[in-house]
Amino acid sequence: MMDLTQRLTLFLVALFVLQLCSVANANLAFPVERKFKGPVQNLAALKDHDALRRGRFLSAVDVPLGGNGRANSNGLYYTKIGIGSPVKDFYVQVDTGSDILWVNCVGCTTCPKKSGLGMDLTLYDPEASKSSTMIGCDNDFCTSTYDGPISGCTKDMSCPYSITYGDGSTTSGSYVKDYLTFDRASGDLKTVPENSTVIFGCGARQSGTLSSGSDESLDGIIGLGQANSSVLSQLAAAGKVKRVFSHCLDSFTGGGIFAIGEVVEPKFNKTSLVPKMAHYNVILKDLEVGGETVQLPTDIFDFTTGRGTIIDSGTTLAYLPPTVYEQLLEKVLAPQSGMKLYLVEDQFTCFRFDDNIDKGFPTVKFTFEEGLTLTAYPHDYLFLFKENMWCVGWQKSMAQTKDGHDIILLGDLVLSNKLVVYDLENMTIGWAEYNCSSSIKVKDDKTGNVYSVSAHDLSSASTMLIGSVLTLLMMLITMLIS
Ligand SMILES: *[C@@H]1O[C@H](CO)[C@@H](O)[C@H](O)[C@H]1NC(C)=O
Ligand SMILES: *[C@@H]1O[C@H](CO)[C@@H](O)[C@H](O)[C@H]1NC(C)=O
Ligand SMILES: *[C@@H]1O[C@H](CO)[C@@H](O)[C@H](O)[C@H]1NC(C)=O
Ligand SMILES: *[C@@H]1O[C@H](CO)[C@@H](O)[C@H](O)[C@H]1NC(C)=O
Ligand SMILES: *[C@@H]1O[C@H](CO)[C@@H](O)[C@H](O)[C@H]1NC(C)=O
Repeated sequence: MMDLTQRLTLFLVALFVLQLCSVANANLAFPVERKFKGPVQNLAALKDHDALRRGRFLSAVDVPLGGNGRANSNGLYYTKIGIGSPVKDFYVQVDTGSDILWVNCVGCTTCPKKSGLGMDLTLYDPEASKSSTMIGCDNDFCTSTYDGPISGCTKDMSCPYSITYGDGSTTSGSYVKDYLTFDRASGDLKTVPENSTVIFGCGARQSGTLSSGSDESLDGIIGLGQANSSVLSQLAAAGKVKRVFSHCLDSFTGGGIFAIGEVVEPKFNKTSLVPKMAHYNVILKDLEVGGETVQLPTDIFDFTTGRGTIIDSGTTLAYLPPTVYEQLLEKVLAPQSGMKLYLVEDQFTCFRFDDNIDKGFPTVKFTFEEGLTLTAYPHDYLFLFKENMWCVGWQKSMAQTKDGHDIILLGDLVLSNKLVVYDLENMTIGWAEYNCSSSIKVKDDKTGNVYSVSAHDLSSASTMLIGSVLTLLMMLITMLIS
């Protein structure tokens, strides 16, 4: 165990395209062979996914995004982790919007027994794992999670946890400690299994989309938020990792990389994360469409609220306040003035276009504090609906924080095909345009060794897999390019 702390730990994960991607309802399935063929018919599913995601994720937002509520999708990425001894596999949703790891536990009657996503679900059994220990309510982890002693705490009483997500789904149970097994980069394109004990929730009662009725059920959720209770913070506190993680989603192949640790290649620029926020917030300074400036509402700049722009890879599209959306849409469509627009499914602006969209429409450029820029190309923000019918991915959102500040929410529409690095050591986020199916270089903090990590090698070698119900959007983009 001792030399484990000498090394950088990495979760190395390959995205894979789900065989069946059911987003809108249980009957609507997208077999993988459709990926390069006809356009996807159900646009609303994209937004429904986000409405639910938003509900779950942004508890400070009190206005729903709209959509017709048909979606039952609450998933984004999921990954396979090993827990306990002997090790058992668990599929958990990766969520940058919450702070703890929890899995369904034995004895839970409301927990899902099967998943429409195609994997076998597992209940964690503390009795069956030799290394499992209960976390008492007087444990330091427990008292710091609750900001102080729990009233009525007696010896032998376990530490309870309870989370209510924005869509009303809940999970509750008690904290346990056990081994978490993951892959560590050990050389160029090589990984070895490694473990560390972590404290996580043993789920006894779930409700809403987390309970047995849901079609996209998983074994639990791994929160990659900033709090001390997250697995990332626990591994960092144990000296195993730096609090740095990154993802690179290839919208062309549906593949990609998810890694924990310091990335040395590609080089990327950064901006500061707004401190003390529940989510990953950045300060937007400027927005340009084809070189022309869009006027932003003043409170998007407001450092005191600091909530202006949220980066969330669990959201599929990108959401803008009405005044921003209207200016942006006008400028995006300006080069093709006179083109007939259609409103599809009451919410998507669409049009017919036969030429190369990257030549016909402008790029959209966001500039953040410290000069970090993020560019969305027409092939990122337009997608094919039906033959020659393109739709705009930018969405108008009335969403505001509870105290009335406008929000910009940037999802995979703008984050794909970029390496996105979340550095919680230095409170920065950064990105670089990148081929997410190639390899990145990561650094072993203790030895200084630099190793290549390739998405391709991971898909076969990793004991961790990451999938995405967002493949739907990726499919759209794939079709557009091919
Ligand atoms: C944890 O890692 C150590 C060292 O590699 C190994 O001996 C042990 O069996 C592992 N434990 C589990 C539960 O995987
Ligand atoms: C989180 O952990 C750090 C380092 O262990 C500690 O300094 C900080 O006070 C903790 N924060 C909270 C809110 O407990
Ligand atoms: C970083 O920013 C500089 C200055 O704006 C720019 O020239 C460079 O291309 C950027 N690098 C990356 C990887 O985006
Ligand atoms: C954080 O910033 C320090 C000082 O600027 C730098 O030495 C260190 O490499 C940075 N950490 C990471 C993970 O980039
Ligand atoms: C990305 O990298 C992969 C692996 O090196 C390569 O096969 C593929 O052609 C690259 N894609 C692009 C768009 O350059």
